[in-house]
Amino acid sequence: MKVLSVVGARPNFMKLAPLARSLSKRGGVKHVIVHTGQHYDVEMSASFFCDLGIPEPDVNLEVGSGSHAQQTAQIMGRIETVLLEQRPDVILVYGDVNSTVAAALVASKLGVKVGHVEAGLRSRDWSMPEEINRVVTDRLANLLFTPSRDGNDNLRAEGVPNGRIHFVGNIMIDSVTYVLPKARQLNTSERYALTDREYVVVTLHRPSNVDSADTLGELLRALEQIGNDYPVLFPVHPRTKQRMAQFALEPPENSGVRLLEPIGYLEMLSLVDRAGLVITDSGGLQEETSFLGVPCLTARPNTERPVTIALGTNELVPSQCGPIVEAARKRFGAVREGAVIELWDGHAAERIADILERSV
Ligand code: UD1
Repeated sequence: MKVLSVVGARPNFMKLAPLARSLSKRGGVKHVIVHTGQHYDVEMSASFFCDLGIPEPDVNLEVGSGSHAQQTAQIMGRIETVLLEQRPDVILVYGDVNSTVAAALVASKLGVKVGHVEAGLRSRDWSMPEEINRVVTDRLANLLFTPSRDGNDNLRAEGVPNGRIHFVGNIMIDSVTYVLPKARQLNTSERYALTDREYVVVTLHRPSNVDSADTLGELLRALEQIGNDYPVLFPVHPRTKQRMAQFALEPPENSGVRLLEPIGYLEMLSLVDRAGLVITDSGGLQEETSFLGVPCLTARPNTERPVTIALGTNELVPSQCGPIVEAARKRFGAVREGAVIELWDGHAAERIADILERSV
């Protein structure tokens, strides 16, 4: 069996790593890795391959940045050639980024089976490019691997036949459990002179939060106020960095907010593991904090990961200064050890590999 994985953006890499490991142990399986080049900075891409032990991609399409249409079209044009050369039995696409939908669309039209890892999640917010990517990818996929039962319900409600839906659990958590012992040895909090549970970790990069000066200003004001009470560590995504510069909105040097370059997976996990609070708009961090029991405020009106809210570790907050500061004061330090979500157990990749061997 020849499996071809397509990844492109930072949140794809921790979903690929466990499958690359699992497939490499199975005889008779050839696994080809294609990187679209959607993310290309070392700290957005190569450092993740290194931290997670993913083999070098066999092919890099080097598409880089562009508008949604340009980026998606470039990936489609270039991946078609690769699929015609490689002729895989199945392609695997991950998550909800432009690389995911582009590859799924091309493979479907070439008659190549598509497996979608992290299928069925829905925010029902069509202003999110990721929601469009999720719905279209799931419509095209032959094998839909869901991380949580709400994913199954969403797919059934959209008319996906039961036989295509496979509840395998959350593959992100495979990566967390795999690297956590090593991440804990790094003692990153000490390196930043932080006391365990006495600091806040922040990531913000969604266009809805950072592309408007008013909203980004509200968020940064909230961080400055929280920074008066606790150190706030903020590794800044390239998009957010550009917007801060464009709107002249950088927090003052003497505030409690420390802006960092994007950091690697191990370092990030190590920081989040010992944080008193996380504030984010990322999908992955909502899941990682839920697994680790660290309180998380998600600056969004909705989430495609409602299990994290049901568990009680994650809370949605409006992207406004007052409500964020208030929620941060309430939630800070409320760590919940031993929180469990069904099949977030570190073995999702093995289940996917088993299903591939059975059904491809
Ligand atoms: C993409 C995903 C988003 C995911 C995020 C994680 C889509 C639609 N969005 O958003 O779901 O949460 O990745 O990071 O696929 N840039 C760099 N270096 C890089 C990559 C990007 O400087 O290595 C800058 C470029 O100026 C680029 C901007 O960041 O224009 C945005 O990159 P892009 O991949 O288009 O979207 P993200 O905002 O990263």
